[in-house]
Amino acid sequence: MNYHNVQFEAAFGTSRQLPKSSLPEIAFSGRSNVGKSSMINKVFNRKQLARVSSMPGKTATINFFRVDDIRFADLPGYGYAKVSKSEKRRWAELIEGYFHQDRNLYMVFQLIDIRHKPTADDLTMLNFLIDEELPFVIILTKRDKLSKRQFEERMKAFQEEIPYADQITMIPFSAQTGEGVEQIKEIVNE
Ligand code: GTP
Ligand code: MG
Repeated sequence: MNYHNVQFEAAFGTSRQLPKSSLPEIAFSGRSNVGKSSMINKVFNRKQLARVSSMPGKTATINFFRVDDIRFADLPGYGYAKVSKSEKRRWAELIEGYFHQDRNLYMVFQLIDIRHKPTADDLTMLNFLIDEELPFVIILTKRDKLSKRQFEERMKAFQEEIPYADQITMIPFSAQTGEGVEQIKEIVNE
Protein backbone atom coordinates (compact mmCIF):
# COMPACT_ATOMS: atom_id res chain seq x y z
CA MET A 1 0.00 0.00 0.00
CA ASN A 2 1.30 3.40 -0.90
CA TYR A 3 0.70 5.67 2.06
CA HIS A 4 1.47 8.75 -0.02
CA ASN A 5 -1.67 8.17 -2.06
CA VAL A 6 -3.96 8.99 0.84
CA GLN A 7 -6.89 11.23 0.01
CA PHE A 8 -9.66 12.77 2.01
CA GLU A 9 -12.96 11.32 0.78
CA ALA A 10 -15.84 12.87 2.69
CA ALA A 11 -17.26 13.88 6.07
CA PHE A 12 -20.58 12.70 7.51
CA GLY A 13 -22.61 14.22 10.32
CA THR A 14 -25.28 11.53 10.71
CA SER A 15 -24.98 7.78 10.35
CA ARG A 16 -27.78 7.66 7.77
CA GLN A 17 -25.62 9.68 5.37
CA LEU A 18 -22.81 7.11 5.49
CA PRO A 19 -22.32 5.37 2.17
CA LYS A 20 -22.63 1.62 2.11
CA SER A 21 -19.56 -0.17 3.24
CA SER A 22 -18.13 -1.22 -0.09
CA LEU A 23 -14.43 -1.35 0.77
CA PRO A 24 -12.41 -2.85 3.60
CA GLU A 25 -12.46 -0.32 6.40
CA ILE A 26 -10.11 0.56 9.25
CA ALA A 27 -11.50 2.78 12.02
CA PHE A 28 -9.85 4.98 14.65
CA SER A 29 -11.92 5.03 17.81
CA GLY A 30 -11.42 6.54 21.25
CA ARG A 31 -12.40 9.29 23.61
CA SER A 32 -12.16 12.89 22.68
CA ASN A 33 -8.61 14.29 22.70
CA VAL A 34 -6.94 10.86 22.96
CA GLY A 35 -5.02 11.47 19.71
CA LYS A 36 -6.95 9.79 16.86
CA SER A 37 -6.42 12.54 14.31
CA SER A 38 -2.77 12.94 15.34
CA MET A 39 -2.24 9.24 14.83
CA ILE A 40 -3.71 9.37 11.34
CA ASN A 41 -1.44 12.27 10.43
CA LYS A 42 1.61 10.45 11.81
CA VAL A 43 0.86 7.15 10.09
CA PHE A 44 0.33 8.91 6.75
CA ASN A 45 3.15 11.32 7.38
CA ARG A 46 0.99 14.34 6.61
CA LYS A 47 0.75 17.31 8.91
CA GLN A 48 -2.83 18.32 8.29
CA LEU A 49 -4.64 15.42 6.74
CA ALA A 50 -6.86 15.14 9.82
CA ARG A 51 -7.55 18.21 11.92
CA VAL A 52 -5.88 18.15 15.33
CA SER A 53 -6.70 20.38 18.26
CA SER A 54 -5.79 20.70 21.92
CA MET A 55 -9.49 21.46 22.46
CA PRO A 56 -11.41 18.19 22.86
CA GLY A 57 -14.23 17.64 20.44
CA LYS A 58 -12.35 18.73 17.35
CA THR A 59 -13.55 15.97 15.06
CA ALA A 60 -17.35 16.25 15.01
CA THR A 61 -18.05 14.18 11.91
CA ILE A 62 -16.97 10.78 10.61
CA ASN A 63 -14.22 11.50 8.13
CA PHE A 64 -13.26 8.99 5.49
CA PHE A 65 -9.82 8.77 3.94
CA ARG A 66 -8.92 6.51 1.14
CA VAL A 67 -5.71 4.77 0.09
CA ASP A 68 -5.99 2.49 -2.91
CA ASP A 69 -8.81 0.11 -2.00
CA ILE A 70 -8.80 0.68 1.73
CA ARG A 71 -10.93 3.20 3.59
CA PHE A 72 -9.88 4.75 6.89
CA ALA A 73 -12.44 6.30 9.23
CA ASP A 74 -11.53 9.05 11.72
CA LEU A 75 -14.35 8.92 14.26
CA PRO A 76 -15.44 11.74 16.56
CA GLY A 77 -14.27 11.17 20.12
CA TYR A 78 -16.72 10.07 22.77
CA GLY A 79 -16.94 11.18 26.38
CA TYR A 80 -16.49 14.89 25.98
CA ALA A 81 -18.57 16.58 28.67
CA LYS A 82 -18.55 20.17 27.50
CA VAL A 83 -20.75 20.07 24.46
CA SER A 84 -24.50 20.63 24.40
CA LYS A 85 -26.89 17.76 25.01
CA SER A 86 -28.05 17.79 21.42
CA GLU A 87 -24.46 17.63 20.12
CA LYS A 88 -23.77 14.72 22.48
CA ARG A 89 -26.81 12.92 21.16
CA ARG A 90 -25.72 13.50 17.59
CA TRP A 91 -22.21 12.15 18.32
CA ALA A 92 -23.57 9.10 20.11
CA GLU A 93 -25.93 8.44 17.21
CA LEU A 94 -23.08 8.83 14.78
CA ILE A 95 -20.62 6.54 16.54
CA GLU A 96 -23.20 3.92 17.52
CA GLY A 97 -24.81 4.13 14.09
CA TYR A 98 -21.43 3.54 12.48
CA PHE A 99 -20.63 0.47 14.55
CA HIS A 100 -24.11 -1.00 14.27
CA GLN A 101 -24.12 -0.87 10.50
CA ASP A 102 -22.88 -4.01 8.91
CA ARG A 103 -19.63 -2.41 7.84
CA ASN A 104 -16.68 -4.12 6.31
CA LEU A 105 -14.51 -3.54 9.37
CA TYR A 106 -11.14 -5.17 8.94
CA MET A 107 -9.60 -3.48 11.96
CA VAL A 108 -10.49 -1.06 14.72
CA PHE A 109 -7.66 0.87 16.29
CA GLN A 110 -9.02 1.53 19.76
CA LEU A 111 -7.03 4.38 21.29
CA ILE A 112 -6.51 4.77 25.03
CA ASP A 113 -4.38 7.40 26.76
CA ILE A 114 -1.38 5.54 28.18
CA ARG A 115 -1.25 7.85 31.20
CA HIS A 116 -4.65 6.99 32.57
CA LYS A 117 -6.89 4.18 33.63
CA PRO A 118 -9.43 3.48 30.86
CA THR A 119 -12.60 5.54 31.37
CA ALA A 120 -16.04 3.98 31.78
CA ASP A 121 -16.72 4.88 28.13
CA ASP A 122 -13.46 3.18 27.07
CA LEU A 123 -14.55 0.02 28.85
CA THR A 124 -18.01 0.15 27.27
CA MET A 125 -16.33 0.45 23.88
CA LEU A 126 -13.88 -2.38 24.59
CA ASN A 127 -16.64 -4.68 25.79
CA PHE A 128 -18.66 -3.86 22.68
CA LEU A 129 -15.71 -4.73 20.41
CA ILE A 130 -15.19 -8.00 22.30
CA ASP A 131 -18.90 -8.94 22.30
CA GLU A 132 -19.29 -8.17 18.59
CA GLU A 133 -16.09 -10.08 17.83
CA LEU A 134 -14.74 -7.18 15.84
CA PRO A 135 -11.01 -7.31 15.08
CA PHE A 136 -9.24 -4.66 17.15
CA VAL A 137 -5.96 -3.68 18.75
CA ILE A 138 -5.40 -1.12 21.49
CA ILE A 139 -3.17 1.83 20.77
CA LEU A 140 -1.75 3.40 23.94
CA THR A 141 -1.31 7.03 22.96
CA LYS A 142 0.98 9.84 24.13
CA ARG A 143 3.77 7.44 25.15
CA ASP A 144 6.23 10.37 25.03
CA LYS A 145 4.56 11.89 28.09
CA LEU A 146 5.77 9.11 30.40
CA SER A 147 9.19 8.27 31.77
CA LYS A 148 10.43 4.71 31.43
CA ARG A 149 9.47 3.93 35.01
CA GLN A 150 5.98 5.44 34.67
CA PHE A 151 5.58 3.54 31.41
CA GLU A 152 6.34 0.24 33.06
CA GLU A 153 3.92 0.98 35.88
CA ARG A 154 1.11 1.82 33.47
CA MET A 155 1.74 -1.26 31.32
CA LYS A 156 1.43 -3.40 34.42
CA ALA A 157 -1.72 -1.58 35.54
CA PHE A 158 -3.42 -2.06 32.14
CA GLN A 159 -3.17 -5.81 32.64
CA GLU A 160 -5.61 -5.42 35.56
CA GLU A 161 -7.69 -2.58 34.12
CA ILE A 162 -8.46 -4.00 30.68
CA PRO A 163 -10.65 -7.08 30.26
CA TYR A 164 -8.87 -10.02 28.58
CA ALA A 165 -5.72 -7.87 28.52
CA ASP A 166 -3.44 -10.85 28.01
CA GLN A 167 -5.24 -11.68 24.75
CA ILE A 168 -5.25 -8.18 23.28
CA THR A 169 -2.44 -6.63 21.25
CA MET A 170 -1.44 -3.31 22.83
CA ILE A 171 0.83 -0.93 21.00
CA PRO A 172 2.48 2.01 22.76
CA PHE A 173 2.37 4.96 20.40
CA SER A 174 3.58 8.53 20.16
CA ALA A 175 2.58 10.95 17.45
CA GLN A 176 5.52 13.04 18.56
CA THR A 177 8.37 10.53 18.35
CA GLY A 178 6.79 8.11 15.88
CA GLU A 179 7.09 5.18 18.26
CA GLY A 180 4.67 2.45 17.20
CA VAL A 181 4.17 3.66 13.62
CA GLU A 182 5.91 0.67 12.04
CA GLN A 183 3.86 -1.81 14.06
CA ILE A 184 0.67 -0.05 13.01
CA LYS A 185 1.67 -0.09 9.36
CA GLU A 186 2.37 -3.81 9.59
CA ILE A 187 -1.15 -4.39 10.88
CA VAL A 188 -2.64 -2.24 8.10
CA ASN A 189 -0.61 -4.08 5.46
CA GLU A 190 -1.81 -7.44 6.73
P1 GTP B 1 -11.19 14.59 18.91
O1 GTP B 1 -11.15 14.90 17.45
O2 GTP B 1 -11.62 15.72 19.77
O3 GTP B 1 -11.95 13.34 19.22
O4 GTP B 1 -9.66 14.33 19.40
P2 GTP B 1 -8.55 13.37 18.77
O5 GTP B 1 -8.62 12.04 19.45
O6 GTP B 1 -8.61 13.37 17.30
O7 GTP B 1 -7.20 14.05 19.31
P3 GTP B 1 -6.16 14.98 18.50
O8 GTP B 1 -5.37 14.15 17.54
O9 GTP B 1 -6.87 16.16 17.98
O10 GTP B 1 -5.14 15.37 19.68
C1 GTP B 1 -5.56 16.02 20.86
C2 GTP B 1 -4.36 16.69 21.53
O11 GTP B 1 -3.42 15.74 21.98
C3 GTP B 1 -3.60 17.66 20.61
O12 GTP B 1 -3.17 18.77 21.37
C4 GTP B 1 -2.41 16.81 20.17
O13 GTP B 1 -1.28 17.59 19.81
C5 GTP B 1 -2.12 15.99 21.43
N1 GTP B 1 -1.48 14.71 21.11
C6 GTP B 1 -1.98 13.73 20.29
N2 GTP B 1 -1.13 12.69 20.22
C7 GTP B 1 -0.07 13.00 21.00
C8 GTP B 1 1.17 12.31 21.34
O14 GTP B 1 1.46 11.18 20.91
N3 GTP B 1 2.02 12.96 22.18
C9 GTP B 1 1.74 14.18 22.72
N4 GTP B 1 2.62 14.72 23.55
N5 GTP B 1 0.61 14.87 22.40
C10 GTP B 1 -0.29 14.29 21.56
MG1 MG C 1 -9.97 14.12 15.97
